[in-house]
Amino acid sequence: MLIASLKPRTMGGTTNTGLLAYALARAGYKVTCYDADESLQLAAWEREVSDFPCKVHESDTPAFAEAVYPSMDHNRINLVDAGHAENHPDIVDSVLEVADLAIVTVSPTKPDYDRLTRPERGTPLAKLIKRSAALRDSGQPPATVVLLNRCQAGSGSPARFASLLRDGGKDGTEPKWTVLTTRIPRREGIASAVGFPCDRPERKAPYDTLVTELTKLGHLPGLERIS
Ligand SMILES: Nc1ncnc2c1ncn2[C@@H]1O[C@H](COP(=O)(O)OP(=O)(O)O)[C@@H](O)[C@H]1O
Ligand SMILES: [Mg+2]
Repeated sequence: MLIASLKPRTMGGTTNTGLLAYALARAGYKVTCYDADESLQLAAWEREVSDFPCKVHESDTPAFAEAVYPSMDHNRINLVDAGHAENHPDIVDSVLEVADLAIVTVSPTKPDYDRLTRPERGTPLAKLIKRSAALRDSGQPPATVVLLNRCQAGSGSPARFASLLRDGGKDGTEPKWTVLTTRIPRREGIASAVGFPCDRPERKAPYDTLVTELTKLGHLPGLERIS
């Protein structure tokens, strides 16, 4: 299967992609990563540490569906880190054409919520997801979930923004999202995770919870089918 890690702009996407790859490997999945962000930070992370759990293929191309996807091993979990949807809608379009699941990283702050729902420039990510249906074999967009990250302990913001996202904004006219109950906390150990080993509990626990939730929601294949 192919999981796409998406975000409108810089939100912690690469951090979440890499730490999710570690968590999937810990859970027993065979994982392969694809770096479809021009900054190629996920690919660099793999080069810089000895414990990165899988290979990362550089694949920042708007021909992702045609040039990268066909050579994937679908008996593994393939995980692609896409770049900023605002700047590279062409690559995100191509990733959405073939992804089985899209995980959208968003921080529970007004500027990040605005960039997801009504960016000043660029196409809203919800629209990219919706229009992908036309290019997909199923005729439907991929299953999509929002992962709130950089969540401050004790703050009401994650719950408030989760409601806004679920309900389609204050008046219900904006796109409605499925918001995961797993929340990635705002932590220094996670802020400094990219390019370093996954050797601290805080880099593991939230992502193990994420894998558990994705499994419960039926988004991950049974281990017996894929490992
Ligand atoms: N859970 C977190 N807590 C605190 N800071 C975070 C967290 N996740 C990411 N960050 C910080 O957010 C910034 C963007 O992260 P990155 O993963 O590079 O985002 P993207 O790939 O979306 O551009 C980085 O400075 C990183 O340290
Ligand atoms: Mg990145």
